[in-house]
Amino acid sequence: MLPVRFGTALLRCNGCAMVSIRHAMFYISTLSTARLQARNRFSTGAVRRLKCQGAHQTPECDGNTGLQRGLFITFEGGEGAGKSTQITRLAKHIRKRRLPVVTTREPGGSPGAEAIRHVLLSGAAETFGPAMEAILFAAARSDHVEQVIRPAVENGKTVLCDRFMDSSRVYQGITGDLDPQFMTALERTALNGLYPDMTLILDITPEEGLRRADERRGKEVADRFEKEGLAVHRRRRKAFLDIAGAEPERCVVIDAGRDEDSIAEDIARAVDGLIDERRSVVKSRRHG
Ligand code: TYD
Repeated sequence: MLPVRFGTALLRCNGCAMVSIRHAMFYISTLSTARLQARNRFSTGAVRRLKCQGAHQTPECDGNTGLQRGLFITFEGGEGAGKSTQITRLAKHIRKRRLPVVTTREPGGSPGAEAIRHVLLSGAAETFGPAMEAILFAAARSDHVEQVIRPAVENGKTVLCDRFMDSSRVYQGITGDLDPQFMTALERTALNGLYPDMTLILDITPEEGLRRADERRGKEVADRFEKEGLAVHRRRRKAFLDIAGAEPERCVVIDAGRDEDSIAEDIARAVDGLIDERRSVVKSRRHG
């Protein structure tokens, strides 16, 4: 075990965690640069608005798929909601529509972010408090966005991501009781303008979700966030639903307490609607 100085605290950790935290420190130091870049870039939402306003042809238009710029779709929800199963099913569905898909997850999804994942889920950062954890999630997200998500979307691929910014809003912001302004600043910096086009919130009672998560985990120990009490999981469920209520244009709530096929059908319908909407905008621009 090696002692590492991190801020004013002394962290004892093994080599792997130390490398991960150094990684995080590097990305945190680049956050201010990312802020500057954010001013010069369009978010996918901004590009969509520009297009709807009948402005210039954007890279979103394409003769083959109708979607040269890919969609960015995130999956959110409490523990055991079945996000990964549904992501696999949706990826298959989108490929059938002849659109290229990338599936990824958070925390993680890029080599730098996967290293930080280990620190977060093992609980190694827990002693430093929710603010430190929120910074580490943001550092991981910044790397994931710049290394994986943005390049894929800009190359016309539809990205399906298991958890994203709403998990930070809920797990760190709401149940971590962090200052909303601090959370907003971290989110803006990590996303650097790349907001999801659609967020599917898989809603399930915490009792059922935790039961499924226990079943899936088998003999493995619960991670840092799974092991929290029922009251915390209930607050998280409400917080996800509050986000959906506040942003109905982006968020779709899916009842995840049902059978797998019914859930997959609802998800496919919602995403097909978004693809068709994008294509019809492209088509009407061509003819208008
Ligand atoms: P993971 O094992 O990836 O699985 P699942 O999504 O099925 O729960 O666990 C990731 C954990 O990290 C999960 O408990 C939620 C938590 N988390 C946050 O607290 N904040 C975040 O920003 C993200 C992305 C995840």
